[in-house]
Amino acid sequence: MSVLVLDSLSVGWPGHAPVLEHLSLTLQTGSRVGLVGPNGAGKTTLFHTIAGVLPAQAGTVVVSGRPVRAGEFRTETALVFQQAEDQLFCPTLIEDVSFGPRNLGLSEPEVNARVGHALEACGLAGLENRPVHHLSGGEKRRACIAGALAMQPELMLLDEPSSALDMRQRRRLIKLLTDMDQAMLIASHDLELVLELCPHVIVIDQGRICADGPSREVLGDAALMQAHGQEVPHSLTPHHDAGHSHVKNCP
Ligand SMILES: Nc1ncnc2c1ncn2[C@@H]1O[C@H](COP(=O)(O)OP(=O)(O)OP(=O)(O)O)[C@@H](O)[C@H]1O
Ligand SMILES: [Mg+2]
Repeated sequence: MSVLVLDSLSVGWPGHAPVLEHLSLTLQTGSRVGLVGPNGAGKTTLFHTIAGVLPAQAGTVVVSGRPVRAGEFRTETALVFQQAEDQLFCPTLIEDVSFGPRNLGLSEPEVNARVGHALEACGLAGLENRPVHHLSGGEKRRACIAGALAMQPELMLLDEPSSALDMRQRRRLIKLLTDMDQAMLIASHDLELVLELCPHVIVIDQGRICADGPSREVLGDAALMQAHGQEVPHSLTPHHDAGHSHVKNCP
């Protein structure tokens, strides 16, 4: 079953030319798809449109069988913002992570259970009463992910989820997302993370989808990667056995 269907979608900012045009894409329930593209390609713009924050310029977004209308709050979708400061707005961490579940009209015990689980999963237990502006950069990022988890959405839109994370937290995030059964679109410049989490990847550049296929195939295509400002991830770069020298270095 499809959780997300984009049909001939054009996205962009009011008063400006479209950033991406004629996008068509289907995401099956529980599947994880990577979204790769250079700075300014339109990853964040696309996420804002799917989440209903920004109106589509043309075409349609359907989530869980229902068209998305801009401004309408859809409980099936959770967006983890690229900039944590754009997402966190409550005085303390616990209030921020509780805000969404409480607005779903859940009972207090259910809100507490969800929030406790999300904070624990994101390594934030013990920081509940910390003002959000006193969290470190990586803690803020994890707070955003906790807020999305606590919503138990069907579709997660993760915009640069590993940015600002140290290696241990990045590894923890990969494990956490691997174990989740929600459908995810993951925009990231961390191509190793995309490779680990997403069997399928889409490359966007210059207003359109340039590649759409199995991650190892797409991300391993040196010519394609170079044409769109990317590099083949290190783990897909062929190596000589001795001395760890690369068979083919990226130019
Ligand atoms: N509020 C805005 N008003 C007008 N143009 C904007 C606005 N926000 C972003 N843009 C423009 O839209 C285009 C796409 O930006 P977007 O943030 O979606 O790119 P991105 O793929 O997420 O890039 P990055 O990898 O740097 O996060 C860029 O040209 C950007 O300058
Ligand atoms: Mg972005």
